[in-house]
Amino acid sequence: MKLQTMNLRLALASGLLIASHTLAMSLNSTAELTGVPPCDALIKAGLGKSLLLPTEASYDARIKSYWSLNSRQHPFCIVQPRNRREVSKAMTALLETEAAGDWHIAIRAGGHNTGGANNIDNGVTIDLVHLNQATYDNKTNLASIGPGLKWMDVYSKLAKHDILVPGGRDGDVGVGGFLLGGGSTFYMGTQGFACDDVKNYEVVLTNGTIINANATKNRDLWLALKGGGSNFGIVTRYDMEALPNTELAYRLRTMNVTEISRISNALVEFTENYEKHQEDALVVYLIHNATTGVDQTLVGSIQVNTGGKTNDTGFAKLDKIPDLTPSKYEHVSMADSAANSLAKGGTWMAESTLTIGNDKRVLKKAVEMHEEFVQDLKKRFHATQFVTEFFFQPMPSMFNNISNRKGGNMIASDLKGKNALLWTAGATVNTDQQDRAFIQSLLNMMNVKLKKYSEACGASNDLVYMNYAAPNQDPLGSYGSKNVKFLKDVADRYDPKGLFQFRFPGGFKISRVEA
Ligand SMILES: Cc1cc2nc3c(=O)[nH]c(=O)nc-3n(C[C@H](O)[C@H](O)[C@H](O)COP(=O)(O)OP(=O)(O)OC[C@H]3O[C@@H](n4cnc5c(N)ncnc54)[C@H](O)[C@@H]3O)c2cc1C
Ligand SMILES: *[C@@H]1O[C@H](CO)[C@@H](O)[C@H](O)[C@H]1NC(C)=O
Ligand SMILES: *[C@@H]1O[C@H](CO)[C@@H](O)[C@H](O)[C@H]1NC(C)=O
Ligand SMILES: *[C@@H]1O[C@H](CO)[C@@H](O)[C@H](O)[C@H]1NC(C)=O
Ligand SMILES: *[C@@H]1O[C@H](CO)[C@@H](O)[C@H](O)[C@H]1NC(C)=O
Ligand SMILES: *[C@@H]1O[C@H](CO)[C@@H](O)[C@H](O)[C@H]1NC(C)=O
Ligand SMILES: *[C@@H]1O[C@H](CO)[C@@H](O)[C@H](O)[C@H]1NC(C)=O
Ligand SMILES: *[C@@H]1O[C@H](CO)[C@@H](O)[C@H](O)[C@H]1NC(C)=O
Ligand SMILES: *[C@@H]1O[C@H](CO)[C@@H](O)[C@H](O)[C@H]1NC(C)=O
Repeated sequence: MKLQTMNLRLALASGLLIASHTLAMSLNSTAELTGVPPCDALIKAGLGKSLLLPTEASYDARIKSYWSLNSRQHPFCIVQPRNRREVSKAMTALLETEAAGDWHIAIRAGGHNTGGANNIDNGVTIDLVHLNQATYDNKTNLASIGPGLKWMDVYSKLAKHDILVPGGRDGDVGVGGFLLGGGSTFYMGTQGFACDDVKNYEVVLTNGTIINANATKNRDLWLALKGGGSNFGIVTRYDMEALPNTELAYRLRTMNVTEISRISNALVEFTENYEKHQEDALVVYLIHNATTGVDQTLVGSIQVNTGGKTNDTGFAKLDKIPDLTPSKYEHVSMADSAANSLAKGGTWMAESTLTIGNDKRVLKKAVEMHEEFVQDLKKRFHATQFVTEFFFQPMPSMFNNISNRKGGNMIASDLKGKNALLWTAGATVNTDQQDRAFIQSLLNMMNVKLKKYSEACGASNDLVYMNYAAPNQDPLGSYGSKNVKFLKDVADRYDPKGLFQFRFPGGFKISRVEA
């Protein structure tokens, strides 16, 4: 121990930090270790090489790699398993450590989520960064992807085989969390949610057993994982059906907010007629970003045809509305599109989501609320201190048909027979937590107001889409009582002691939802 302490001092004094394995090895040879039972247990299990401690520069760098400030908590130690066997070892070592004290376990994949569930202050974070394979089997047409990859890396690795799988549009978003929440992609019109293309999950259960969940083996778990979130174990591999790597026709536009009613009409019509242009994808957003020099709300649209067609009819109405800066359709690979769409992180983020009926009145209300929101923020902040973004994405009932065709998922039954729009409201500030809480509070109240309005119009929808949900929302409960009961049963079957519910408290946990 003395030697190790000296090493550490020397290393710090010389500005050089000793490698984690040196520390862990020397610690392992003594009886004293780190003084933190779960971190010691990981070392004893032979995972010392994969451990990051707060005394190391690599630990700090890893914390800073979380996308939003919301998630930059500081665990006792971070364990970075190198493969599924090490995930299993970590799972066993941590769960066999006496749970006394006040600590829990978090799981991190891409680290993009802003709910804070992907990290923990009092506890240990299992970081899946090294589970980063993306391989392709041309006999089964399945791509096997690791949870620790970012989507831009998935696309570039799979492009070598001339294939892709539907995934994140922002290249920095991670695989692990995205697929557990469903996954909204450019390919939804033909493929449904990204999870609908997962043919097999490899999962480490709380007892350390590694199993596959697919349509023929552990089918209940396969179905539950499609939108059921982090409730059953740690997913160490996603096997997804591959698509040919065709280029997208891609147009990114900015329009004057004075055109909003024409744009809204075009969005509603696009969603209503989705079946007629299934290769098209549309995201419409309002943005207020005064640091650009324009202290006005602008309307953006992302218009994509996944078949690479620039003459499809889906965007005809929208294309008549003038651009603020000239744009045209370009042919671009999914890999390049993702690598060029990297929302800037490093800020405090507040967000809230709701699904509304595909109804012009509700859409109009949401647009008015954005303007009120900007005015409210201006009372507290200088215009350049905040950025707002409200996203609208089509959620046609057709997505439920696609899901059913592929075996079903936990999300899409809310869309049965009802065309809807996904509303995601967010804002970022670079000041502090207090300001984040202030904004979150405004968004929470706005959410309730918009929900009430949509109900009054007879145009509401139960769905709370997990990937955009704030911690005060209940996406699992929004799937309906039948799915809630099913998810509880599956969690009980694969984790009979409820360890995943209790020791991994972050994120949306099914045990907390009333049946
Ligand atoms: C700029 C931006 C763009 C986005 N774009 C999209 C989009 O186009 N479509 C969309 O659907 N969503 C989108 N999202 C939301 C995104 O899907 C979620 O934030 C998602 O949780 C991020 O995945 P991750 O792997 O980075 O998650 P993390 O933050 O690492 O994890 C999220 C949650 O999942 C758990 N988890 C992660 N991996 C595993 C695993 N292997 N096993 C068990 N539990 C696990 C974590 O513990 C945590 O609770 C976007 C978010 C941002 C900020
Ligand atoms: C640490 O010690 C344990 C026995 O207590 C041993 O099984 C393990 O392999 C050792 N790990 C390393 C990294 O030396
Ligand atoms: C599949 O991949 C193997 C190995 O790369 C190759 O030899 C074979 O020709 C491929 N088959 C098809 C149908 O592309
Ligand atoms: C389903 O799981 C079984 C059992 O592990 C496995 O043998 C089979 O290959 C899996 N199917 C798919 C499509 O991965
Ligand atoms: C939008 O149009 C209005 C009215 O024509 C104009 O005053 C405003 O400057 C325009 N905004 C931008 C960003 O061009
Ligand atoms: C706001 O605009 C600035 C200046 O163009 C840009 O650097 C920043 O990334 C934008 N922020 C967001 C969240 O879009
Ligand atoms: C679009 O163009 C392709 C060939 O470039 C053509 O086959 C197709 O008919 C056109 N579709 C429409 C709707 O014009
Ligand atoms: C979608 O499924 C519904 C039943 O849920 C059915 O009425 C409808 O015809 C289906 N639509 C398509 C395009 O298959
Ligand atoms: C681990 O748990 C699963 C699900 O409960 C069970 O099927 C399996 O037999 C268990 N494995 C061991 C080694 O106990």
